[in-house]
Amino acid sequence: MKKNVVVAITGASGIIYGKRAVEALGKTKHKTALVISETAKLIAKEEGVKLPASDYSEKDFFAPFASGSRAPDAMLVIPCSLKTLSAIANGCSDNLISRTAEVCIKEGKKLVLVVRETPLSPIALENCLKLSRIGVIILPACPAFYSKHDRVEDLVNFVVGKALDSLGVENKLYKRWKE
Ligand SMILES: Cc1cc2nc3c(=O)[nH]c(=O)nc-3n(C[C@H](O)[C@H](O)[C@H](O)COP(=O)(O)O)c2cc1C
Repeated sequence: MKKNVVVAITGASGIIYGKRAVEALGKTKHKTALVISETAKLIAKEEGVKLPASDYSEKDFFAPFASGSRAPDAMLVIPCSLKTLSAIANGCSDNLISRTAEVCIKEGKKLVLVVRETPLSPIALENCLKLSRIGVIILPACPAFYSKHDRVEDLVNFVVGKALDSLGVENKLYKRWKE
């Protein structure tokens, strides 16, 4: 089934994860809408990553999927900052990203958060646990090294591939165990 997927890129390190996720989803049958936070745009410059244009600004509450009546099938926040994690966990829907996540939660849609920070404070861990308990997938940006990856790109693809797996989107972005 063709899915409507909202991808949000927020202001955490690892903006390349978001870019790669958009590229990978663009090669599938699924329809993607992209929202990039203002801070993510600044960090993209800092990290030397050229981002695609976003479809909606973070302040556009008139985007269709800001309403439960047009909820997306799935949402991926990649990378997900601790600020956005907290906004989602505490129902503070002050931008389109946290609002769409709120819509996904209330409408029972899939929500995957690729949280990026280290170390994690008890506050961040509590926010992760709170969301995990209601079915939100918390997918820390932790690549595995068992595939003997030797390029940064492989490590990025591993995390993005796992995120797409969680969304229910088939992909061959990474080498699976014993493959
Ligand atoms: C260069 C840079 C790197 C950052 N990296 C992270 C990070 O890895 N994780 C995180 O939670 N916040 C990080 N921050 C802080 C967030 O950008 C900040 O909390 C911001 O309010 C997040 O806003 P947003 O979630 O709306 O994009 C970073 C900030 C800068 C300037």
